[in-house]
Amino acid sequence: MVALARTQSIAPADDEQSAFEADVLKGLSQQRKRLSPKYFYDAVGSELFERITEQPEYYPTRCEMSILRERGAEIAQLIPPGAAIVEFGSGSNQKARLLLAAAPELAVYVPVDICGPMVEQEAAEMQPDFPSLKIVPITADFTQPFELPKEAVEAPARIGLFPGSTIGNFEPHEAAAFLRNAAKTLGPGSKMIIGADLVKEAEILNEAYNDAAGFTEKFNMNLLVRMNRELRGNFDLDSFEHHAFYNRERQRVEMHLASLKRQKVKVAGGCFEFRAGETIHTESSYKYTPESLAALARGVGWEPAGVWMDNDCRFSIQAFSLSEQPKR
Ligand code: SAH
Ligand code: AVI
Repeated sequence: MVALARTQSIAPADDEQSAFEADVLKGLSQQRKRLSPKYFYDAVGSELFERITEQPEYYPTRCEMSILRERGAEIAQLIPPGAAIVEFGSGSNQKARLLLAAAPELAVYVPVDICGPMVEQEAAEMQPDFPSLKIVPITADFTQPFELPKEAVEAPARIGLFPGSTIGNFEPHEAAAFLRNAAKTLGPGSKMIIGADLVKEAEILNEAYNDAAGFTEKFNMNLLVRMNRELRGNFDLDSFEHHAFYNRERQRVEMHLASLKRQKVKVAGGCFEFRAGETIHTESSYKYTPESLAALARGVGWEPAGVWMDNDCRFSIQAFSLSEQPKR
């Protein structure tokens, strides 16, 4: 696992910067203020996410890793020899490492992540452990179209890997759009292996997003730090607090940054008023059942091809396949 030093926060490219600025201006102008969770992942945010995954309350990573360790060989049967794996939101690559260990005939691994320093550094660290694997890291926003490298295009098959329940950070209509785009990117006959957190009791979820050591709080608050640094913001960190709770009706954990008082904040050239208690909705983390994810995927052409769960049925890995015929 990589520890990215604070000083290593490489300045984002101009177009990324202007997308961030435009999204902040738009998101904070809404009646219900909101920001996309993809902006959590600067170098510091990526490091904080890794710390979250080590917390005793944050079960998803442990559960998904246990499924991959115990059932990896079965899951790997979906992967034909010589195939390319394209991982969306690869982070520390730890899930791919387990899958690759179970699928030694895999030829190409394309980790895709919005956090450029992390995706490059993790790929460089991984290569010596898998000397015959071609690793081609890509820095991209997976909600936008991006091109696969020629090694993946020329491989006999492409398998999408989307672990970590990152699919849960999309609104359901966005998840459907993502899966539709992934089908286009990967092409007919492809498969998709998705890690999805499962619907469960509120207590377990509330603890997972309010860890006692405070890493989830820091992860959420880092968005204010990032806006202050990159978008000339003047958020007072002591005037906002982390809120996270399970919304049972919508089957999602919501994370918010709540203003502790009435205040005005300047950022990205705009000025925004907050009422006391008003929040910025920074993340939703939808929880699925095997049936609800299958229904969503089927709606955009992916057929269910397998479901695996951990012993406590907290987390699932679900596989889907596309027909060999291109969709008209
Ligand atoms: N797959 C890893 C990391 C999950 S955290 C795991 O299972 O532990 C979510 C990852 O997705 C982060 O590494 C983050 O940088 C990346 N990410 C989030 N939104 C993204 C986007 N729109 N495009 C590309 N990567 C994104
Ligand atoms: C990456 N994503 C699936 C994590 C989640 O659980 O929604 C991000 C996270 N947010 C708070 N803790 C972890």
